[in-house]
Amino acid sequence: MLNKGYFYKTAIVAVVSVMLYSFNGFNTVNRQDGLKQSIERGKKIYTQTCVSCHQVNGTGVPHLAPPLKGTDYVLKNKPRLIHIVLDGFNEDVEIEGEYYVNPMPAFNTLNDQQVADVLTYIRNSFGNKADAVTAAEVKAQRKK
Ligand code: HEC
Repeated sequence: MLNKGYFYKTAIVAVVSVMLYSFNGFNTVNRQDGLKQSIERGKKIYTQTCVSCHQVNGTGVPHLAPPLKGTDYVLKNKPRLIHIVLDGFNEDVEIEGEYYVNPMPAFNTLNDQQVADVLTYIRNSFGNKADAVTAAEVKAQRKK
């Protein structure tokens, strides 16, 4: 005969397992939603703040503002990318055979979440595909 204690223990383990399992699933869904929402917010910031120079499709304007499509600056080193927005950028760069000498102004009035969103947007637009930039990552760079 099953004793009551065993029955309850088994029941509790079962309930807790189901809870943990659904919590995990919930988290995964949440992370994906978070990325989508960050990209959506970032698109608005891009449209207000960056589009005049870098253009709707991230093509830039030859000699004036470089493209954001597939560049190492956008896709590779995240701290460097974050600093471009926080501090502005003034290095003579060659991107896809064009030279850019105009400086880009700093956008340090954007808060950590806004910088994260706009960078997550450009890293996932114009054919780019790269992981998100988080507000925590921006915060860490703002101090440096
Ligand atoms: C006033 C025009 C202007 C605006 C507005 C502007 N940029 Fe730039 N951006 C430039 C220029 C010019 C450069 C190249 C600077 C240099 O040669 O040193 C540049 C370079 C960059 C680069 C590195 C090079 C590349 O093409 O990958 C990134 C990334 C970038 N900008 C992102 C942004 C983002 C994100 C915003 C909006 C928050 C923004 N820019 C707003 C003009 C602008």
